[in-house]
Amino acid sequence: MRDAMARAEVGDDVYGDDPTVLALEARLCELTRKEAAVFVPSGTQSNLCALLSHCERGDEYIAGQDAHTYKYEAGGAAVLGGIQPQPIPFNAQGELPLESIKQVIKPDDPHFAKTRLLCLENTQGGKALSIDYLNEATTFARAHNLSCHLDGARVFNAALAANAPVSDVCAPFDTISICLSKGLGTPMGSVLVGSAELINKARRWRKMLGGGLRQVGIVAAAGLYALEHSVERLCDDHRRATELAAHFNSMENLGEAIAHTNMVFLETSDKTMQKLRAYLQKNDVIISGGRLVLHKDINDSDLDRLFTLITAFAREQ
Ligand SMILES: Cc1ncc(COP(=O)(O)O)c(C=O)c1O
Repeated sequence: MRDAMARAEVGDDVYGDDPTVLALEARLCELTRKEAAVFVPSGTQSNLCALLSHCERGDEYIAGQDAHTYKYEAGGAAVLGGIQPQPIPFNAQGELPLESIKQVIKPDDPHFAKTRLLCLENTQGGKALSIDYLNEATTFARAHNLSCHLDGARVFNAALAANAPVSDVCAPFDTISICLSKGLGTPMGSVLVGSAELINKARRWRKMLGGGLRQVGIVAAAGLYALEHSVERLCDDHRRATELAAHFNSMENLGEAIAHTNMVFLETSDKTMQKLRAYLQKNDVIISGGRLVLHKDINDSDLDRLFTLITAFAREQ
């Protein structure tokens, strides 16, 4: 990846003439079967550009209570766009139930913000949404005159888990934000894909938000490399997550682990969690909390080492 970055042909992307950025955007249009794409520095900026392109001041978007677009993006849509979020709880599958969506869609009445957009997340906390649900939820949204955005930060994990091409996961949405960092391993960069009309608007917002970059083909080259080399190997992360959860669960005294795509969630007491974290740290393995994420820089021998440590820790309890 570093080599590809060093060799990248570059230009000024603000003028739309960085050939490597153009190649990355074209590749993602091809993979997702969308009309247009815009490269942005981060997933947060990609989601924000999307929200600002779909909605105007006084509009409202529906998102999950724990959605990144609601909870973890510093309220950007409200602060910068005058767009009101309407959060509702995710169900256990990471879906927004249609009945809950229905209850918060506002009638056309000057008392209310105008409900404009449904925003889903896939994967949501590692959970991949079924293609059936995506089609149902977006059909329902459109019947209520809402447009549809997907925070697809990990959309390639979602497609793998749904055993579907990524274009099927993206098909029902007007815009999809895709991260090249995280599981795909680039140092930065996301791409927003969608209709030419929405992506044109997003390009203007990107400039306004300070995300128009020069010679950024260096980073786009990492994205192209990741699309070629890091997508197929995501199945290794999913397998390792399942194995890690199974190993944790085979220790009878630690609690429960649940794997979703490339993530493992440890459900254990605060005390055990604290002790486990300290024990692992003493052995040069750092975990931040109960969510463990598998990625391309964790291989089978790293995992074996972790299994040995978990077994030794469980024996001491
Ligand atoms: C689901 C989801 N969406 C968006 C983002 C934002 O991406 P970034 O950190 O590149 O801004 C993240 C980051 O972890 C995420 O998990």
